[in-house]
Amino acid sequence: MSTTDRVPGSHAGAGASEPVRASDVLANGSVPAHVACVMDGNGRWASARGLPRTDGHAAGEAALLDAVEGALELGISWLTMYAFSTENWRRPADEVRYLMGFNESLLARRRDELHDKGVRIRFAGRRDWRVPRRVLKRMDESIALTEHNRRMTLTMAFNYGGRAEIVDAVRRLVADGVPASKVDERAIRSRLYFPDQPDPDLVVRTSGEHRISNFLLWELAYSELLFTDVLWPDFRREHLFAAVVEFQRRQRRYGGVT
Ligand code: IPE
Ligand code: IPE
Ligand code: MG
Repeated sequence: MSTTDRVPGSHAGAGASEPVRASDVLANGSVPAHVACVMDGNGRWASARGLPRTDGHAAGEAALLDAVEGALELGISWLTMYAFSTENWRRPADEVRYLMGFNESLLARRRDELHDKGVRIRFAGRRDWRVPRRVLKRMDESIALTEHNRRMTLTMAFNYGGRAEIVDAVRRLVADGVPASKVDERAIRSRLYFPDQPDPDLVVRTSGEHRISNFLLWELAYSELLFTDVLWPDFRREHLFAAVVEFQRRQRRYGGVT
């Protein structure tokens, strides 16, 4: 049993207590500045219902929007969501095609609403030839529309890989002509996709998998990791609230002593 299974609100059913509310979380302690989520389990959610995997991705949209809403209620400034990894190209062509179209249409349908809520949308990942041009266009429109918003920054990790991000940073170091003696953590960090962004305080992975799957490898060095069995399409803001309550119980030491 993972820790979150015992956190109120993380599970419906026998013995579950009342769902956690935003006001409870805020009264309980400080809220993480940056939360990152691995939105996993869409395919299993669909298979369990006898539906095609793609229906699971479609059902994940409501979870994403509710998580954003919950993060806004808590005043979380940075939210990073893993939407498509550099390894997800290995999936069947039909599923990849669906995911590209789905992400494009999600932006088209939701960007105004996110903009109205004061959300700045950004994308972490490679803009390589495999990403269809119309998807890139929609991404650029969403960035331009929301660039001055500061209530929350929502970073969609799309065609994102933690190793690719480090490789890209090293390429920039070399292109900038940085000598070996000047290569340090600062030099690398300043060449990551978003150097202005604090490292995630809390990472939530759904679907019962206990792995990182190439997400934010550099940035996760001291993040608190939280794993829940909830499948992404079932995830709602109450699960986020419960995760933050669990985060508030953790003691971060960064290698030191308290
Ligand atoms: C997460 O759900 C969405 C993406 C990785 C794009 P999955 O599609 O990985 O669902 P499972 O893990 O197969 O259930
Ligand atoms: C991680 O999920 C990537 C995203 C959620 C976008 P995967 O389903 O691709 O990860 P693995 O294959 O289970 O490690
Ligand atoms: Mg998966």
